[in-house]
Amino acid sequence: MHVVITGGAGFLGQKLARKLLSGATIIGPAGKPAEVSRLTLFDVVAPAADIARDKRVRAVTGDIGDKATVDGLVAGEAASVFHLAAVVSAGAEADFDLGVRVNLDGTRHVLEACRRLPRPPRVVFTSSVAVYGGDMPKVIQDDTPMTPQTSYGAQKAMGEFMINDMSRKGFIDGRALRLPTIVVRPGKPNKAASTWASSIIREPLQGDAVECPVDPSTEMYVLSPRRMVESFLHAHDLPAERFGFSRALFLPGLTIPVTAMLDGLKKAGGQAAVDKVRFVPDANIRRIVAGWPMRFNPARAKSLGFKADDNFDQIVQGFVEDDLRRNVA
Ligand SMILES: NC(=O)c1ccc[n+]([C@@H]2O[C@H](COP(=O)([O-])OP(=O)(O)OC[C@H]3O[C@@H](n4cnc5c(N)ncnc54)[C@H](O)[C@@H]3O)[C@@H](O)[C@H]2O)c1
Repeated sequence: MHVVITGGAGFLGQKLARKLLSGATIIGPAGKPAEVSRLTLFDVVAPAADIARDKRVRAVTGDIGDKATVDGLVAGEAASVFHLAAVVSAGAEADFDLGVRVNLDGTRHVLEACRRLPRPPRVVFTSSVAVYGGDMPKVIQDDTPMTPQTSYGAQKAMGEFMINDMSRKGFIDGRALRLPTIVVRPGKPNKAASTWASSIIREPLQGDAVECPVDPSTEMYVLSPRRMVESFLHAHDLPAERFGFSRALFLPGLTIPVTAMLDGLKKAGGQAAVDKVRFVPDANIRRIVAGWPMRFNPARAKSLGFKADDNFDQIVQGFVEDDLRRNVA
């Protein structure tokens, strides 16, 4: 089957691509598990060489804000689409027009192209817990209204509405996942205001010093890349009727303070790794992070079979096995 991943050269796009190329099956057009025979990875940049080299991969570079490019991408026999391309939180906040072009117009282009396919494709959309904000309850429930307080959160919420309405019309078979902060992200820090949550684990384990811009008591709602990739496949395969009136849900995660993250770091890298973390408060990051919801009751997602990680140590271990060793090799 042919699968398209937008944002296919990004952090989660490449993780998902590797999983699909490793022989994982997802529900195909015939309604049965099928392997991916063709994988289109769309992004502004090229994916890693080992992925691009795979004969099943077609790497396409271009701008999702350009409608004609997207029309050409999702054409013919595309069976399923994972729509991950986005300008992330601080990037969309810093440049409103870019955020609208990529996160809103880009999503619309993808969904319109999907609509023209002969059969409504399954579309998995990456939303975010940034759809919540402002005056929130202590614990976010499934029926907590979306009240985004950033342009990024607003653009994700609008994407969810399009996914819901176009699914209701039968144009697509959409599923929208509100992601927690995914840690540990390999590579370099990005423009997300949460990027430090990965940096304080990644940098010390790579032998580098790192500054933590928030207090040790700051909590984050996190999920590992491994569980996230499992969640992508699970969301894709769930029968449409299981979603009821809403195609969107927030995923289970772990609510964990920085102190507990550093305990996990110590288990993996010893006290020497923890000593590489220096607390250097950044008022701007602290303000943004303080506005995020950190406690969730993901009853609906759990009832649909989505799972959080068991503990933070497991998350760090996954990073060591999947990313640190890969880089060393
Ligand atoms: N990683 C997280 O913690 C997290 C949390 C919540 C939501 N999300 C969402 O999940 C998705 C994937 O996140 P990620 O961490 O892999 O992000 P990422 O930044 O690594 O990947 C996004 C990709 O989109 C691409 N992109 C940006 N502008 C584009 C354009 N104009 N045209 C085509 N491609 C473009 C980027 O080049 C990048 O490779 C995003 O939609 C993000 O908003 C991620």
